[in-house]
Amino acid sequence: MLEVHHLSLRYPSGTQALAGFDAVVRPGELVIVLGGNGSGKTTLLRCISRTLAPDTGEVRVNGTDLTRLTGEKLRRARLDLAVISQHAALVRRRSVLANVATGALGRHPTLWTALGGLPAAELAAAERYLGEVGLAHLARQRAGTLSGGQAQRVAIARALAQRPRVLLADEPVASLDPEAAEDIMRLLRRLAAEENLAVLCVLHQVELAYRYADRVVGIRAGRVAFDLPREEVSRDAVRRLYLSEAA
Ligand SMILES: Nc1ncnc2c1ncn2[C@@H]1O[C@H](COP(=O)(O)OP(=O)(O)O)[C@@H](O)[C@H]1O
Ligand SMILES: [Mg+2]
Repeated sequence: MLEVHHLSLRYPSGTQALAGFDAVVRPGELVIVLGGNGSGKTTLLRCISRTLAPDTGEVRVNGTDLTRLTGEKLRRARLDLAVISQHAALVRRRSVLANVATGALGRHPTLWTALGGLPAAELAAAERYLGEVGLAHLARQRAGTLSGGQAQRVAIARALAQRPRVLLADEPVASLDPEAAEDIMRLLRRLAAEENLAVLCVLHQVELAYRYADRVVGIRAGRVAFDLPREEVSRDAVRRLYLSEAA
């Protein structure tokens, strides 16, 4: 369970990117955040993953407030959060399987050396996660040979190898063609349900939100504009979200 309470962040430049944002994502749920350019979506995910420290607010993962942790406790708590973004950022020269297995590294920091590697059980798990995203047959292939949609699937398998409770996705389909984008969204929804993951996904494509979200959170000027089950989100509410982009 991910709970975000009253999150605020002002950049040194003076921009108030988040101004008291609230959201809850339950296990098994896919929540999609919609908002115009500059509405604070990326800043929100950065504050949740603690790439940025928010000025105020709480980020609770299964009850633990990450904003109050430091050092090793913070490092360990962050393992519960996996992040994927627009770019899969795979190591192109390494095999698909090796890329997936790197997701487990955070849980084995002392075992990892340039020459050594992960325990056999982690490699077996990586194969399994690759199967979950439908790419078991590509395990030995170099990551650099994959299509955009395949690479994003591998990035998702790598995130699963971390064994997170929460998956954060920042425009995960922005660089994919429409068909691959649908595939990835379908996969995220299935993984939320099957892995009991809390998935928070930022999107630009309104239509995908209508099709795949359990709930949609509209963000405008760093605040929640609406937070509704997919079927209750009106076209008008979404239009207002993007109109304010120009204001
Ligand atoms: N590193 C930064 N320094 C200063 N301002 C930033 C920085 N990153 C984003 N902003 C500003 O904060 C606001 C929110 O940005 P962002 O979270 O990237 O929005 P989105 O992802 O919704 O497009 C925007 O006004 C943006 O210009
Ligand atoms: Mg962004």
